[in-house]
Amino acid sequence: MEALLQVRDLDKHFGGLRACDRATFDVEQGKIAGMIGPNGAGKTTAFNCVAGFLKPDGGEVFFAGEDVTGLPPHRMFDKGLVRTFQIPQELDTMTVLENLMLAGERQSGEAVWRNWLVPWKVREEEQRLEARAHEVLEQTQLGHQAYLRAGALSGGQRKLLELARALMAEPRMILLDEPGAGVNPALVRRLAQHIRELSERLGLSFLIIEHNLDFVRQLCDPVIVMAQGQVLDVGSADDVLSNPEVQAAYLSGQRTT
Ligand SMILES: Nc1ncnc2c1ncn2[C@@H]1O[C@H](COP(=O)(O)OP(=O)(O)O)[C@@H](O)[C@H]1O
Ligand SMILES: [Mg+2]
Repeated sequence: MEALLQVRDLDKHFGGLRACDRATFDVEQGKIAGMIGPNGAGKTTAFNCVAGFLKPDGGEVFFAGEDVTGLPPHRMFDKGLVRTFQIPQELDTMTVLENLMLAGERQSGEAVWRNWLVPWKVREEEQRLEARAHEVLEQTQLGHQAYLRAGALSGGQRKLLELARALMAEPRMILLDEPGAGVNPALVRRLAQHIRELSERLGLSFLIIEHNLDFVRQLCDPVIVMAQGQVLDVGSADDVLSNPEVQAAYLSGQRTT
């Protein structure tokens, strides 16, 4: 069976710099794939090209068998591929529930106009969003925090809310860019548990960039290693980390950053 996400010869250049240089990888349905590599390897650039935040200069992206190369983020969101973002400060004064409803709403672009013209549709849409938000609260065990302001959440709950906002799309695949950054080890473990549970219960697929190799070892298979814009190796965490080429890429990466 073909993979849910297929990235083929992805190129992205910034001036003369080849941030992605024919990067090629797959993520299969239901897998929690990791992406690692030294700083500047092109991981975030590859993510943004896949999720529609950057237009690739070359190559192809297929999602669920469909060519989605260069589609904008809201189209990718509708197709079930979303990336998470840190919750902007402006949303701190809104409740967890409102944060979720807003995340679900923002994407349904044309619907806004239709709703504006047909007032009863507004109520209907709000009810739909609220029902979905309550489902997501349950899935992420944030139900008790529904009416708490986002700014009052603990660090770990805030990370969960980021994930919950992505879940509003009823996604098939979620991309996470360094979810463990700045989070203490106990919370990182809990976050890993949540991700695994969501994957098992909902059949969700993940692609996760992470520097914390314990997290990657615990959670991710396969692990995709990027270096200098290319995919250097793919395999289990233990396999790729024992590859001398991967070790060398990390060492040379450290020297330059
Ligand atoms: N918007 C941008 N403009 C110019 N250069 C960029 C931009 N984004 C990333 N780069 C460069 O592309 C390379 C890859 O960056 P990035 O994808 O962020 O790597 P990683 O996430 O693996 O650390 C780096 O050299 C970085 O400086
Ligand atoms: Mg990055």
